Amino acid sequence: MQNHKKPPATLIFIFGGSGDLNFRKLSPALYNLFIDDWMPDKFSIVGIGRSKYSDEDYRKRLLDGIQQFSRRKGEQNGQWTTFSQHVTYLQMDAENEADYPKIAELVKAKESEFGEHPNVIFYMAVAPQLVPDIAKKLGPLNICADTRCTRIVIEKPFGHDLQSAHELNQLLRSMFDEEQIYRIDHYLGKETVQNILALRFANALFEPIWNRNYIEHVQITAAETVGVEGRGGYYESSGALRDMVQNHILQLICMIAMEAPVSFDANEIRNKKVDVLNAIRKISKEEAHQYSVRGQYSEGWMKGEKVPGYKQEKSVNPDSNVVTFAAAKFYIDNWRWQDVPFYVRTGKRMNQKTTIITIQFRPAPNFAFPPEAAETWRSNRLTISIQPEMDIRLRFQAKHPGQFMTLNPVDMIFSYEEAYEGHEPEAYETLLLDVMEGNATLFMRADQVEAAWKIIMPILDAWETRPPVDFPNYAPDSWGPEDAEALIARDGYNWIALPPPHKE
Ligand code: BG6
Repeated sequence: MQNHKKPPATLIFIFGGSGDLNFRKLSPALYNLFIDDWMPDKFSIVGIGRSKYSDEDYRKRLLDGIQQFSRRKGEQNGQWTTFSQHVTYLQMDAENEADYPKIAELVKAKESEFGEHPNVIFYMAVAPQLVPDIAKKLGPLNICADTRCTRIVIEKPFGHDLQSAHELNQLLRSMFDEEQIYRIDHYLGKETVQNILALRFANALFEPIWNRNYIEHVQITAAETVGVEGRGGYYESSGALRDMVQNHILQLICMIAMEAPVSFDANEIRNKKVDVLNAIRKISKEEAHQYSVRGQYSEGWMKGEKVPGYKQEKSVNPDSNVVTFAAAKFYIDNWRWQDVPFYVRTGKRMNQKTTIITIQFRPAPNFAFPPEAAETWRSNRLTISIQPEMDIRLRFQAKHPGQFMTLNPVDMIFSYEEAYEGHEPEAYETLLLDVMEGNATLFMRADQVEAAWKIIMPILDAWETRPPVDFPNYAPDSWGPEDAEALIARDGYNWIALPPPHKE
C-alpha cells in the first residue's frame, strides 16, 4: 500500500446511530477504513439514538451489520476487537435540547483523552425532517464556533423542493460556514463515477471530440430490480425524480458535461459542475410532458417470483400516485452541448440492476465502403458502466475476416476487475475519509443543490397538477412504461440495449 497521511484526531457523532444507514453503510465503511489503515491514530465514534444500548450491545449490533453488508465480514485478525473499542453509544433524544450538553461534555472528555482538540463530525443519518431541528440545537453548543474543525454531514434528500432546500441551506448557513457543511451524494463516491474525470481529463484522446460536433446524444440509465424495500414511508414523500434524478443522475450529467477544471480544488470542480446545472435548459411546466415520462410499477413477476405492485407495498397509500419510474430529456445550452439531447431514465423493479452511461457519436461524415460492406455498420459508442459491471467499452468498426469487405462493430473493453486486483473501496469509505480530511470536492455545495432543484421543479409541478390516469403503467421486470420508448423514439433514437457482461 502507498504511504499515506492519515486524518487528524477525529470524533464522529452519528445521529441515527441505531438506524439502518449506520448499520448497513457507515459502520462498515469506517471499519474498512480502519482495516486499510486510513482511520486517524486518535479517533472515537459515538452512535446517538433514542433506543437503549450498552456499549457492548451496540458494538454487537454494528458487528451484525458488518457481517451482513460489509465487503469484509466480521473479525479480521483481531481488527474488529480493536476497532470496536473506539465505538460507544450515547442514548439521547435528539429532539430534546436539554440532552445536548452531553455532546459538549463528550467533546471535552475526548479533548483531554487525545491531548488535543479533535475534529468533530456530526453525521445526520436521520429522517430528513429532523435535520433542521438538530442543527438548531447543535448551534448554541459552541463546538460549531471553530470552523476549521467542526463539520456537519447531511444525507439526501436535501429538501423536498426548491423552496425547502433553500430554507434548509439558509438555516444551516446561519449556524455553520459553507466549508463545514458536507451534503452527501453517494454516487460521487463511487470509483467508476470518479473515474469519469480521469477518463476525460487525464487523456488527450477524448477531449477534442467531446462536444456537439462529434457526439450525437447521451443516455443514462440507473435501473434497479428491487421495489421500495420497506422504505414505502420515505418513498411516498419522494418518488423517482426526487430520489434519483435531482441528485445522482444530474451529478452524472455534470461529470460528463463539465468543462475541464484548472485544478482539483474543491471549489474549482464544483464551479465547473454548477455551470452545467445552470446551463441545463429550463423548461416550463406546460412543456414538461414533452420532456418527461413517469411510471409506477404494477404487481407481477420478477425472475419467477410474484411481487407486489407499488400501491400494495408496506406504508404506501393504496391510491398513491408516487412515481417509481422517471425518464427525461435534458438539453445543455452552451457552446459544447447545444442541441445534444441527454436522455435519462431510472426506475425500481426494472429488468436489470444497472447504472450505465452511453455516449453515442455521430456517423462518419463520408462513407466510402460499398453498401453491402456496411449492413452491420454502427456508430461509435463509448459506454461507461458504473455498476454492477464496472467497465468502459469503446465500440468501433472492424473488418470481418474473410475475402469480402464486411464491417461489423467490435468492443474494446477496460474492465476494473481484470485490470486491478483487490476490492474497490465503497462509496461511503471514500466520502467519510474525505470528510475527516476536510476535502469537500465530492460533496454538494448549496448552490449546486438549488440549481438541481430548479431543473426538476417544472416537471414536479406539472406532475402534481395533472395526476396520472394510467398508474400503475409498467410491469415488474420490464424497462418501464411504453411512453419512455416514445420519448426517445420521437427523436429517431432508441434506448440502447445494455451490453452483455464481458466475461461471457
Ligand atoms: C439512494 C436512493 O439514494 O440510491 C435509493 O434513495 C436507491 O432509492 C439508491 O435504491 C441506489 O443506490 P445504488 O448505489 O444502489 O445505485
